[in-house]
Amino acid sequence: DDFSGVGVWRYAAALPFEEGVSLPEGHTPLHEVPRLREDIGVNRLRVKHEGMNPTGSFKDRGMTVGVRVAEELGVDRLACASTGNTSAALAAYGARGGMETLVLLPAGKVAAGKVAQAALHDARILEVDGNFDDCLDIVQDLANRGEVYLLNSLNPFRLEGQKTIGFEILEEFRDDYGRFPDRIVLPVGNAGNTSALFKAFRELVAAGEMDADEVPALTGVQAAGAAPMVEAIENGADEVRRWDEVETRATAIRIGNPVNAPKALPGIRQTGGTAVAVSDEAITEAQRDLAREGVGVEPASAASVAGLRKLREQGVVDADEDVVCLTTGHLLKDPDAAYEAGGDPEPVANSTDAVLEHIGAE
Ligand code: F0G
Repeated sequence: DDFSGVGVWRYAAALPFEEGVSLPEGHTPLHEVPRLREDIGVNRLRVKHEGMNPTGSFKDRGMTVGVRVAEELGVDRLACASTGNTSAALAAYGARGGMETLVLLPAGKVAAGKVAQAALHDARILEVDGNFDDCLDIVQDLANRGEVYLLNSLNPFRLEGQKTIGFEILEEFRDDYGRFPDRIVLPVGNAGNTSALFKAFRELVAAGEMDADEVPALTGVQAAGAAPMVEAIENGADEVRRWDEVETRATAIRIGNPVNAPKALPGIRQTGGTAVAVSDEAITEAQRDLAREGVGVEPASAASVAGLRKLREQGVVDADEDVVCLTTGHLLKDPDAAYEAGGDPEPVANSTDAVLEHIGAE
């Protein structure tokens, strides 16, 4: 396959290689959501749907670069801790590159679609009796001992690939409207995307592609049960305090120790952004809102829209703003959450008359 110049690799000039281990990834839709825009009450609203990547999440953008680096280094065992999506992407890209992959998952806290992907792409899956942060501690130990090559977002090459989310949003938004968005709202777990987008903006400003005052306000959203970044922003703290106890149905962002916080906190502050926590109920409601516009996302992704709604209601976001919400993973990643949010099918007898009667037709 030759995917040079395609998707993520269209931005090779901003990446460490000309091409990577590619499926290919990137070039995701920037959906219009007119009813949701009207309902939330902002000037413009677009949804960058990263669930449309090959394994169904933005992680593919990082892996195409990160696994290429691993290939270059000649390492033989790739590893990550994961709330699910990173493991699915690593398994797929590792398989593509012909490398062995090891993933550590928090037992019982990973959505079914993600474990299924990691298993079928032939990762060795270890379920740890602990949360994601514990898994990452262990993988870092393994990496420090030279046993594995770490492909969590602590790996800077992952974030190089994820910068392209920012490049695509800005380019397409300007093509459509002649200006950049005022704000980008995104779910925050380890704050890898927050850091990657900030780096993308700084590079564009340095290259003279964007004025400093045009940089969108980075606005992070966490689930209320796992909101250490929000706590730090609200308290004006220089460091994020690790939460040992975390809980949310948005299992992708069930994270208490955002390892990229040192890069992400300045990103949020220097762009004039903020961070906000949302309830699981608000996340589910936003998942339904997006689904009603035809955009199917997993719970963590819907947090961005829930956060925007809350900030708009609080008056933190103005009615005249142009906003892009990032949705990070596909609906099918977490079928159980989708069933719960969507409601049960209705049983009906096996005849046309029974169906007609059931739907209340004459
Ligand atoms: N949304 C989804 C769907 C995710 O899977 C993740 C992270 C995030 C948001 C948070 O992104 O770390 O850049 O702030 N998932 C990781 C994983 C932790 O293991 O799949 P971030």
